[in-house]
Amino acid sequence: MEILKFLVGEFNGKKVESYNLRNSKGFGINALNYGGIITDVLVPDKDGVIENVVMKYKDINSYKENPSYYGALIGRTSGRIAEGKVTINDNVLELNKNYGVNQGHGGAIGFSKKFLDVITNANEEEAYIEFNYLSPCGEEGYPGNLNLKVRYTITENNELKLSYKATCDENTLVNLTNHSYFNLSGNCKENILSHYLYLDSDFLVELNENEVPTGEIIEIEGTPFDFTNPKTIGRDIEEDDYQLKIGQGYDHCWILNGGNDVKMRLYHKESGRKMDVYTNQNSVVLYSLNFPDEEILECNKKPSRRDALAIETQSPPIGRDNIFAKYSFLKKGEEYNKETIYKFTTI
Ligand code: GLA
Repeated sequence: MEILKFLVGEFNGKKVESYNLRNSKGFGINALNYGGIITDVLVPDKDGVIENVVMKYKDINSYKENPSYYGALIGRTSGRIAEGKVTINDNVLELNKNYGVNQGHGGAIGFSKKFLDVITNANEEEAYIEFNYLSPCGEEGYPGNLNLKVRYTITENNELKLSYKATCDENTLVNLTNHSYFNLSGNCKENILSHYLYLDSDFLVELNENEVPTGEIIEIEGTPFDFTNPKTIGRDIEEDDYQLKIGQGYDHCWILNGGNDVKMRLYHKESGRKMDVYTNQNSVVLYSLNFPDEEILECNKKPSRRDALAIETQSPPIGRDNIFAKYSFLKKGEEYNKETIYKFTTI
């Protein structure tokens, strides 16, 4: 397999590099040394045409602020923490509030906005890019020096594996994910509403009016959130449902059922592209791009609502009153070890 490196820009005097990983079939990814951002996931359709199946900005400079977190590594914790308040080691942490009255996605300068050290390796079966980062104690208000190793691997079977490892010298909070927005039509030819989705989940994390988990878990059988039988994302998205109204669409955390089976399947009939998701994470946040930003996409238009689906395998966001903090708790000296695999085939 092949890995190429390109200089694509400069943020704050530092070089932004794009690493291009390809297998022998042309499947692969492009990722930046800034924010671990995946700009491209290049996947063949049923006729072998290779196109990008994730949302991509046209101008590299749009990734500096990256208002919608396109493709980025999210940490130290993903999702919202009510009023930025969380208790750990008997200390109440007052985290910065970068999401209105809450903290979101690791704070004002989370991992999505850091330059990361890169190692690459390739052989006949696989190629990977590994990001290393030492998050100093107190960064964005979180305790402990956190040693991070995140690896994106592509295989000859058209799989993309994201693996996340972290250790800390104090008890801390870690809940990592990747924020790629998928659209299997290729180069965002059409929006996400006609994509079919299957989700191995019977329960949803309830949100309050500020989109923060309340701690209640909702049974979803027969509701717009039920994807246990594949249906299009558009079928129920405009239904009269309080949870849908809060997010103005899907922007929720589903609790995944146990086992090693496929947790999620997304497919698009016209292109024939199908993506199966496997993970050892216990939940997934799906976000149907309900509030697009204004940056121009590679396909020369501004993003529209429902253009793509962000798939964020993670633990439930910490929410309010420490409600889900235990799922983000990392004990001093223990290893955080999570993996998500996206497998691409055609139907
Ligand atoms: C997550 C959140 C959304 C939104 C996006 C980023 O998916 O749940 O509410 O903030 O990130 O734009």
